[in-house]
Amino acid sequence: MSAAGGVKDETILEVRDLRTHFFLRRGVVKAVDGVSFTLRRGEVLGLVGESGCGKSVTALSLMRLLPKGGARAIGGEVLLDGTDILTLGDSQMREIRGRKISMILQDPQTSLNPVFTVGDQLRESIFRRAGGRTAQIMREAVAALRRVDIAAPEQRIGQYPHQMSGGMKQRVVGAIVMSGEPEVLIADEPTTALDVTIQLQYLKLLQRLQRETGMAILFITHDFGVVARLCDRVAVMYAGRIVECGPVQEVFEHPSHPYTQALIASVPAMTGPIGRLTTIEGQPPSLMDLSAGCRFEPRCRHAEARCREAYPPPVGVGPDHTADCWRLQPA
Ligand SMILES: Nc1ncnc2c1ncn2[C@@H]1O[C@H](COP(=O)(O)OP(=O)(O)O)[C@@H](O)[C@H]1O
Ligand SMILES: [Mg+2]
Repeated sequence: MSAAGGVKDETILEVRDLRTHFFLRRGVVKAVDGVSFTLRRGEVLGLVGESGCGKSVTALSLMRLLPKGGARAIGGEVLLDGTDILTLGDSQMREIRGRKISMILQDPQTSLNPVFTVGDQLRESIFRRAGGRTAQIMREAVAALRRVDIAAPEQRIGQYPHQMSGGMKQRVVGAIVMSGEPEVLIADEPTTALDVTIQLQYLKLLQRLQRETGMAILFITHDFGVVARLCDRVAVMYAGRIVECGPVQEVFEHPSHPYTQALIASVPAMTGPIGRLTTIEGQPPSLMDLSAGCRFEPRCRHAEARCREAYPPPVGVGPDHTADCWRLQPA
């Protein structure tokens, strides 16, 4: 890693006991229910887990962009550079969003406005950050497109999103996000909607941008192969909680939570092509009807009585590596 991209032992984002629930007529969905992690300056932290485990709701909570209709962050703290952004007013949050903390969504279609050219959208973002004169902003916009490997940016800048391929649109989203010079980037499955051949190019682009800028990335994926390629540390999420967290190599070599072990066992080879998770036997629990105990207990081959009674506290299992499992508790 370059000096700019080097991981510093300094926390930029700290999430403490975050709880985001959906209050629906048929009950309360505990989508995020006690999530804690830290993101350090200059690192890429992977957030991995099966579909529906609460990854996107975690991300949207950090951006303060929860869907309308019953979703509320009811507890916890999200300290961005020391400030709890859950306590900020909407206008203060608008100042921070897109500048200190930014997000790339799965589908570029939802990030781009179909009625404006990509140049309009890019110039607005550049102007918001730094102001400036039209000609200067135009030059910066062209440079921003070039930086994300868009060929002939002078022509592309006048086009509308529908005139571009999915991969190119996602690169435009990347250019817009980078123009805000965020310190924290949340990338929520940013390659899932792209063709397989384009996915790897996009990951390489993100990796380069990370190294050039030194921004910290929370990279959300259900794909452990991508974690191995891109991330410094990984947090494994299951049914609204992070069940294991540690350096990528350490977690791959010594997976400690039975859920992580099952996930890793399902990945063919870490050095091979990007692998998808195969399914683990059984179903994740309903987030509307969670037991007091470990959420993985019904699917766990090591389950004991105490696993049903109370949620296990995190146990240090290696350097910078923790897992929430009763079996790991010292006797
Ligand atoms: N708009 C919504 N209304 C009600 N429940 C939702 C909504 N969005 C998500 N959820 C609930 O939150 C859980 C976590 O969703 P999400 O964070 O999108 O999962 P993923 O890990 O696949 O990103 C889902 O299983 C679902 O029960
Ligand atoms: Mg998601």
